[in-house]
Amino acid sequence: MVTGDPAALAAEFPVLAGLEPLAWVAGGLLVAPFAGGRDPDEQRARLAAMSLPWRADPGPVPPLPFPAAVGGGVYRRSPGHAPAPPGVPEVVLVDGEGFGLAEHVTTGMCLDLMGDLPDGPALDAGCGSGILALAWGRLGRGPVLAVDLDPHAVTQARESAWASGLDALVTVRRAGLQSLSHDEVHGRVVLVNAPRIAQDALLSVRGEPVPSAMLVSGLSSGAMDEVIGAWATRGLRAGRREAAGRWHAATLHA
Ligand SMILES: C[S@@+](CC[C@H](N)C(=O)[O-])C[C@H]1O[C@@H](n2cnc3c(N)ncnc32)[C@H](O)[C@@H]1O
Repeated sequence: MVTGDPAALAAEFPVLAGLEPLAWVAGGLLVAPFAGGRDPDEQRARLAAMSLPWRADPGPVPPLPFPAAVGGGVYRRSPGHAPAPPGVPEVVLVDGEGFGLAEHVTTGMCLDLMGDLPDGPALDAGCGSGILALAWGRLGRGPVLAVDLDPHAVTQARESAWASGLDALVTVRRAGLQSLSHDEVHGRVVLVNAPRIAQDALLSVRGEPVPSAMLVSGLSSGAMDEVIGAWATRGLRAGRREAAGRWHAATLHA
């Protein structure tokens, strides 16, 4: 248990999220740092760096299918993790096979870059677990259409929208990007963290729709240059670009 008053715990919450919060109790927050699948050495270092006092309390720990975290200003957790303290936006992801559950570096770059995009209706093109769509909705950026080819990802994203109380804002549908209509892409903020073949599928949507802005991720450097070049022919200009290892992510703007 990490002890502290509610204000101190809330201020420390971005760090506490990495210790797998389990439940708020009188005087503190129960955590299970070794239950979420993170590297035990990293967890020991996190505990050593804690500014709040803590003590070990052996006790039952529910299954935590993936590590909780704060990214892009949103706390991402499973139903078994403790809810966020007041004022911290959260999304609840149910267990499943969709990509983006245990945050991948390409997903992380998307969450970081989202703040550069204008508000508005969004398309999460290849939504996987639904994490980007849910973050967009939770941050009050606008309604989202989230689509994926993978039926398991669609079920997970839909159930996560319900679990997050975001089902009125986030619509999840099984679809291939190539089959989207012009108006499902045109004028929307398009979030697309997906391989080149999916980027090309989006570019092939009939009528050459032009998003209001884009977040493109999941590509190597050369592929990113080509995809940015393809959208530039429709009038989108490159914005901020980040790289982590071989993965690139970039924003595009009208
Ligand atoms: C790298 S994952 C990204 C998941 C999530 N958006 C994230 O950022 O973590 C890419 C997703 O795109 C989906 N996908 C790939 N090609 C697709 C296509 N042509 N149409 C629809 N979805 C596609 C995959 O099933 C997968 O869930």
